[in-house]
Parts: sequence; structure tokens; C-alpha cells
Amino acid sequence: MPSSSNITIFDTTMRDGEQSPGAAMTLEDKVELGRILDQMGVNVIEAGFPNASNGDFEAVRAVGAVLDNAVLCGLSRAQPRDIERCGEAIKSAKRGRIHTFISTSPIHMKHKLQMAPEQVLDAVTASVTLARKFTDDVEWSAEDATRTERDFLRRCVEAAIKAGATTINIPDTVGYSYPDEYRAIFEDLIAAVPGADRVRFSAHCHNDLGLAVANSLAAVQGGARQIECAINGLGERAGNAALEEIVMALKVRGEDLPYHTAVDPAHLMRASQTVARITGFPVQYNKAIVGKNAFSHESGIHQDGMLKHAQTYEIMRPEDVGQGATSLVMGKLSGRHAFKKKLEELGYTLSDNALADAFHRFKDLCDRKRHVFDEDIIALVDDHIAHADAAIQVTRLRVVAGTDGPQTAEIDLAVNGEAVWRTARGNGPVDAIFNAIKAAAPHEAQLELYQVQAVTEGTDAQANVSVRLSSNGRSVSGRSADADTLVASARAYVAALNRLLALQARQGNADAA
Ligand code: KIV
Ligand code: ZN
Repeated sequence: MPSSSNITIFDTTMRDGEQSPGAAMTLEDKVELGRILDQMGVNVIEAGFPNASNGDFEAVRAVGAVLDNAVLCGLSRAQPRDIERCGEAIKSAKRGRIHTFISTSPIHMKHKLQMAPEQVLDAVTASVTLARKFTDDVEWSAEDATRTERDFLRRCVEAAIKAGATTINIPDTVGYSYPDEYRAIFEDLIAAVPGADRVRFSAHCHNDLGLAVANSLAAVQGGARQIECAINGLGERAGNAALEEIVMALKVRGEDLPYHTAVDPAHLMRASQTVARITGFPVQYNKAIVGKNAFSHESGIHQDGMLKHAQTYEIMRPEDVGQGATSLVMGKLSGRHAFKKKLEELGYTLSDNALADAFHRFKDLCDRKRHVFDEDIIALVDDHIAHADAAIQVTRLRVVAGTDGPQTAEIDLAVNGEAVWRTARGNGPVDAIFNAIKAAAPHEAQLELYQVQAVTEGTDAQANVSVRLSSNGRSVSGRSADADTLVASARAYVAALNRLLALQARQGNADAA
């Protein structure tokens, strides 16, 4: 059994999380998220798969360059080109890790790899040996480990350790295992494999049966000392274990689960909202820890209990996870200084110009909305950060809606600094707006998703609008918040369009190169 009780938190939001259809992230998104994860105390950040494309390679490099403490990790298959590109990409960071993997289950080896077990074993040794030439921090993963024959898994793990792997990851790739079974795999490997005491074992769980977090905790009880997880549980199919749930389960149940992470939970809410904005995947209301309702008490009995003693129905406080006891303090009369202080409390440090702009928008919001909550300020600032330097910006919008029709939108855009004005009709005001944008900035993208959520309660709440566009098989999301749903809709559409254009430009450059 390992003696240390410290758990390495390995975040894979930007790699496994990005593999969720529609969750593609730009280089800028990854840098923004990398900074937040680093600040919150995540130990290892898997920023992508460098050999997947030049864009991925550059994004991994860019994330590495902004990390102060966390180790930068890149993924690679057991192929020399993958490992070499990964080795190159992680050089940008102070500390870099290569994560190389190969499938070990009979079904994967036969149908996916079309390799015999002995060939897979040779590939394990060769891939880890090559990776060690670039860094002394090498993680090896047995893809589909939980459906792998135990004796073969032991042999593969032994080969990886002998070749120099320092972390051994045992993924439940298809989310098939259950806690007792998964824990037993770790206990067995740690007891049986020569050299197991020299490496750190890692859990990587998918949530196909809703067991990812439970399985990860069971792995820790079985001796794993690294957990791979993602903000909001993002990841392939049903996702990965949710980072915020792992961190808080270990904190809240510390007496029975005496393991520690370096993550500061006060940053969890901000990380969650950033991932939701970047990917356009809203957080479900009843999501543990970071959902809007995670700390709401609706029934009279619960409210009564809460008023008498908060711990009657709360096992943790909203402030612990950065949900912030919702305050009504900010409003019309708040000055710039108070606003700056509030932003700092919420985890934002803005330049003077950005602060001036955010303050202006905050005052504008106060004129339109009775109560301005923390969530409103977060939405407003995130919106500003996302739209500030974009190529296309919405400068004015006028819409005719209602029973009489025809529904018409008139829009002014700044397209690369040039003013463009267009008007269009549509089947409803939102359709008219999107048609007007298409007329002002012609493009081929198809609308895949349009979604509206209220940031807070009440009819004057800001609307959080998500738009997903697709073109040539790539999907991107844009998001915007405003007290006017139609303005937020126009901005969200334009945000998605900006990201699509940026992606296409990068792809064009990569192809040309
Ligand atoms: O789920 C999985 O097996 C993976 C590996 C690449 C670690 O994501
Ligand atoms: Zn995975």
C-alpha cells in the first residue's frame, strides 16, 4: 500500500473533455482554462493530443507556457510520431509529461488494433522507452483495462514499469466497472507486479453507468494515488469523473477517506462556469457541487431546518466551492472600487481598460435589472472576456417582434473594424436576427443548437444564450449573457461564428504549412 495520502489531481477537461462531440476548444479557450486550473491547484493538466493536428500541438504548447505549478501533459498513442510530437509540445512547460497508451483488452486488441498480445507487450516497452528519451515523467495507460485479462494486465504493467513509466493508469474506458471490482484491480496490481511500489497508480473512469466518481474513490482505497477527472464531468460519451465531485467528496468525508488534494475548492464554481461557457454545454441545475440548485432549499420543511441550523440540510457551504452566498450588495450605487473588489472576490483580475468596460456594462445592467447577483457579474465579465477582441462584433440591434409581424431584425456589425449594416426577416425574431447576421457576414455554417437559460431568478434575469454552429464536420459553440434575450442571441451567434472563422483560419494555415 502506498504510504502517502496525497492524491494527484490530473485534469483531462482539455483532452478527454474535448472529445465530447461539440466541445471543441480554441487555443485561447485552453489557455484561459489552463490558467484557472493551475491557480486552483490541479497537479497535472492534460491539454490535448499534440499529434492530432497542428492546432492541437500549438494549443498544448500555449497552455504549457502559462503554467506556474502544474505539470503539462500531452497524450500520444504508442506510435513514434505521436510520442515525438508530444515530446516537442511539452517543452514549453517547466515540467512536462508524456502520456502514452495502448489497448490491452481482447476485444480491442483483436478488432481495433489487430495485434496479438505479444505485439502489444512489445509496443508497451517500445513506447515507454521512447517517451523516456524526452522526459523522465512518463505515464502509461492500458486502454480498456477493466475488460483486460488480469494476468495480461499484470504483464503489461510490469513491462511499462521496467521501461521507465512513472505513473500507471488503469482506465475504465467504457465505464463498465463497479467500485469493489475496480478497487480489487488496483490491490491486485500493487501486490503482484514487481516494481509497483516505485510508481504512482492512477484511476481514469468514464461515467457510462453513473459510477465514475464512486469508482475513482474506490481506486484510491485500493491504492491509486492519482485521479483523472474533468470539470463538470466532461468527457467521451457520458463523460469522465467530475473533478469538483472528487475534490469535495475527499474534503467532506475526510475522516473516512483520509486523502488530500491540493485543489482549492473556492475556485470550483468559476472553473465550472468557464468550461460551460467555452464548450456551450450548460451545467444541469441539479449537478452536484456546481449546479444552480446544489445549495437551494425549496421545501418549507428544509427552509425551516436551514434557518434553525444550516447543517440540518447542508453538508458543505456554498462559499466553500465558490458559489458565494448570493449577495444583493452590488447595485446602482456601487462605485468602481467596490466593483473591482467584488471582481477580485470572484477570482477576476482585469486590466484597467477591461475593468472600465466591465464597470460600464455593470452600470448599464443595474439600470435594467432590480437586483444584480454574483452570477450576473460573472456572466457579464465572462461575456466581456469572450467578445472583447473578436473579429466580428455586434454594435447595434433592433428587432420587430410580436403578433403583427413580419418579424424583422436590423443589425450593425463591426467586421474586422469595418461597419456593416443589414436587415432581414425571419420566422420569428431570433430567426430574423440570425438571417441578418448571415447577410452581414456571409458564411456556410449550419445552426446546430440554440438554447436559452436564465442566469438568476425573475423576469428581469439575464439570459444566457448558447449557440452551436457546424461547418465541414467541425462544431463550435458561442455563448453570451444579457438582460435582453435577443441581444444575447445575436452575440452568442456571432461568438460561435468568430470561433468557427478562427478555427478555419488556423486549419488553413496548418494545411498551407
Ligand atoms: O478512457 C481511456 O481509456 C482514455 C485513455 C486514453 C487514457 O481516455
Ligand atoms: Zn478516457
